[in-house]
Amino acid sequence: MIRALLKTLLTVAAVACAVSAGAWAKDNHLPYKKQHWEFEGVFGKYDKDALQRGFQVYETVCSNCHGVDHLYFRNLGQKGGPFYLPVCPEGVPESVKCSNPNQNPIVKAIAKNYKFKVTDGPDDTGDMFQRTPLPSDHIPGPYANEAQAKAANNGAYPPDLSLIIKAREDGPDYVYSLLTGFEPQPEIVNLTASQHYNPYFRGDMSQFLKDKYKTAEGKPLPSVEIPPGGVLAMPPPLTDGIVEYADPDTPQTVDQYAHDVVEFLSWASEPTMEERKELGFMTIAYLLILAAALYWSYRVVWSNVEH
Ligand code: HEC
Repeated sequence: MIRALLKTLLTVAAVACAVSAGAWAKDNHLPYKKQHWEFEGVFGKYDKDALQRGFQVYETVCSNCHGVDHLYFRNLGQKGGPFYLPVCPEGVPESVKCSNPNQNPIVKAIAKNYKFKVTDGPDDTGDMFQRTPLPSDHIPGPYANEAQAKAANNGAYPPDLSLIIKAREDGPDYVYSLLTGFEPQPEIVNLTASQHYNPYFRGDMSQFLKDKYKTAEGKPLPSVEIPPGGVLAMPPPLTDGIVEYADPDTPQTVDQYAHDVVEFLSWASEPTMEERKELGFMTIAYLLILAAALYWSYRVVWSNVEH
């Protein structure tokens, strides 16, 4: 019985090792560039200006190919969101409650002027129709469905970005590294015009080696060093100056855009992070006070007991 159990355990361990070794061999990308993110850590908060700029980068550049399906326009104006207004700016009529995301004038304007319309319907004649988005709508993406998205991107699917930071290990550093990490194709490989080399993307560059670096069976020559990373169907999306920031002091560089869009996407993947941290802090403070009170009452109760 015990021997059988041991054997099973050993088999499981061996399979696990083999699987993880396999995964490692495939994922030979460069280690991600470690960045300092203000929103990480126990007391971390999002930087509101960075969130606003990040949304601008998403809207101007990324939304041409990627959706953020899980976000509603009104999320942008909720507490902790990029355009939250605790009180109304001057000139807004008194009847408007700006802290309510559905009435927030910035959110309303963003929805109204958004580059994509919302598909609604069916109307009285049974047809679907396009209309201007409202704060209560999902932020519409560029494609009607997955097939259309693939057709427009050489067969590759641009994933939804609303949860990408949570869906990938080391999400913020990974996306930052990917966006800033595109490189010209290594000399020893052959890529097509729609394959873009990035040493931070998971992949296996040995399959793209030029013939002269391969054996007759198609294996890499022993002397050849396989470049790290892989290829994506996404061309480098950011270039210096591609997004115009309102604040003239913020650099308009690939590095800054990547930081800002990662901040925005991190917020998108967990819009309630600040509340969660606050609640965690309050809970711990409460437990500490409770523990102190219990200890004190224990001392008081037992202080008069004769030994
Ligand atoms: C021209 C279209 C296009 C634009 C613009 C674009 N992407 Fe992409 N993106 C793609 C495609 C297509 C893929 C899938 C690549 C693949 O799997 O080969 C992709 C993949 C990605 C991935 C990798 C996801 C993974 O599986 O790990 C991330 C992250 C990403 N894009 C973020 C962005 C961000 C952020 C922006 C804006 C700064 C952006 N993209 C702009 C087309 C685009």
